[in-house]
Amino acid sequence: MKTILPSHTSSLSRLNRILSNRDFDNARFFILVDENTYNNCLAPLVSSVARLQEAEFLEVPVGEECKDLAIAQQLWETLLESGADKNTILVNLGGGCVSDLGGFVAAGYKRGIRYINIPTTLIGMVDAAIGGKTAVNMGGCKNQVGFFHQPTITCIEPSFLDTLPDEELFNGVFEMLKTFLIGNPEQYQALTDMLLSGSFEVKPDMIAACVEIKNAIVKKDPKDQDIRHILNLGHTFGHAIEAFSHRQGQALLGHGMAVGVGLICALYLSVKKLGLAAEHLERYRQVASKLVQLPHYTLKDTEEILTYMRQDKKNASGEICCVLLQDMGAPVIDIAVDENEIRDSLLKIK
Ligand SMILES: NC(=O)c1ccc[n+]([C@@H]2O[C@H](COP(=O)([O-])OP(=O)(O)OC[C@H]3O[C@@H](n4cnc5c(N)ncnc54)[C@H](O)[C@@H]3O)[C@@H](O)[C@H]2O)c1
Ligand SMILES: [Zn+2]
Repeated sequence: MKTILPSHTSSLSRLNRILSNRDFDNARFFILVDENTYNNCLAPLVSSVARLQEAEFLEVPVGEECKDLAIAQQLWETLLESGADKNTILVNLGGGCVSDLGGFVAAGYKRGIRYINIPTTLIGMVDAAIGGKTAVNMGGCKNQVGFFHQPTITCIEPSFLDTLPDEELFNGVFEMLKTFLIGNPEQYQALTDMLLSGSFEVKPDMIAACVEIKNAIVKKDPKDQDIRHILNLGHTFGHAIEAFSHRQGQALLGHGMAVGVGLICALYLSVKKLGLAAEHLERYRQVASKLVQLPHYTLKDTEEILTYMRQDKKNASGEICCVLLQDMGAPVIDIAVDENEIRDSLLKIK
C-alpha cells in the first residue's frame, strides 16, 4: 500500500506518474463520487491524472445514505454489466462515506479488486481513507458489515479541502486533535496554539503527520485486535453523544464534533483515574469550545447517553471500557469505567 502525502509537488501529479507505470497497464478505472465530489473534485482530478481521463464514473447518494448494502449491490451489478474484470480499479473520490462504501465494493467484487482512495474531506485525509477498514451500515447501526481490505494507493491532495464547508472541516480537526493526543504531543501543541489564536487553516504538514501516526498504528495491528484501539480515544463517549444528538430537540453533532466533545470526558477521566495533568484537560476544553458549542447535559440526558454506551460493541464482559491517556502521547486501552464516573464526566463537559 502506498500513501502519497502532501508535499511541495502536487499529490495528483505524483499519482499521475504512478498510474503511468507498468503495474497499471491493463487497468480499467471507475471513479466513485457523490454529488458534491462530482461537482467539486472530479474535474481537477481527471485534468491532472491522464489515466483517469477515460475512466467511467459512478455516483452514489451523499453521506451515510450511500453506506448501504443495496447501493453496494447496484454497484456490483453495474460493474458486472460493464464487463469489469479483476484488473478493474475503483477510485474512491470523496469523504469517508464514499471510501468506506467503495472499499467495501472493491473487497467483495470478484473476491477483491484494487482500489485507490482520494479523500476530499479532512476526516477522509487524516482517518477514513487510511487503514483498510471498509463497511456499510445495517439495521440503523453504523459499520455493521465490512471487510479489512487495504487500498493500493491513498493520495492526499489538500487542495480538495478548499470547497469543504467549515463544519465538515471542524469534524476533521477533532480527529486530528485525537490523533496528536495519542501520537504526537509536539504537533498537538502546534495545532492547539493555532486554533487558540483563532486560525483554522489546516496545514498540509499537519495532515501528513496524522497520516503517518495512523499508518504506523495500522501497520502494528492491521486487524484492529489490540493496539489499534488507541485510535478510539474519545469514541466510546463520542459515538453515544453523536447518537444522542440525533434525538429530537438536540443540537445535531457530526461525528468529529461528537468525538471532540467525547474527548473532554475521556480527558476528564484520564485526570481522575490515570493522573493526567489537569492543565491538559483545561487546554483541550478551551480549544474544543472554539470549534463547537459544548453541550450542557442534564442528569436525564446522561441516562440516555449511558444507554447508547452500554450498546458499544467494544465493551468487554458487560463493562464499559474506554481508551484513556496516562500522559500526552501515552494512551492506555481497555480501562473499565463505572457508570457513576461516566455520569460525572458528562455533567462536567462545560
Ligand atoms: N474506515 C475508517 O477507518 C473510517 C474512519 C473514520 C471515519 N469513517 C467513516 O467516514 C464517514 C465520515 O466521513 P466524512 O465526514 O468524510 O463523510 P462524507 O463522505 O459524508 O463527507 C462529508 C460531506 O462533505 C461532502 N464533501 C466531500 N468532499 C467535499 C469537497 N471537497 N467539497 C465539498 N463537499 C465535500 C460530502 O458530499 C458530504 O456531504 C463515516 O461514515 C465514518 O464511519 C471511516
Ligand atoms: Zn472517528
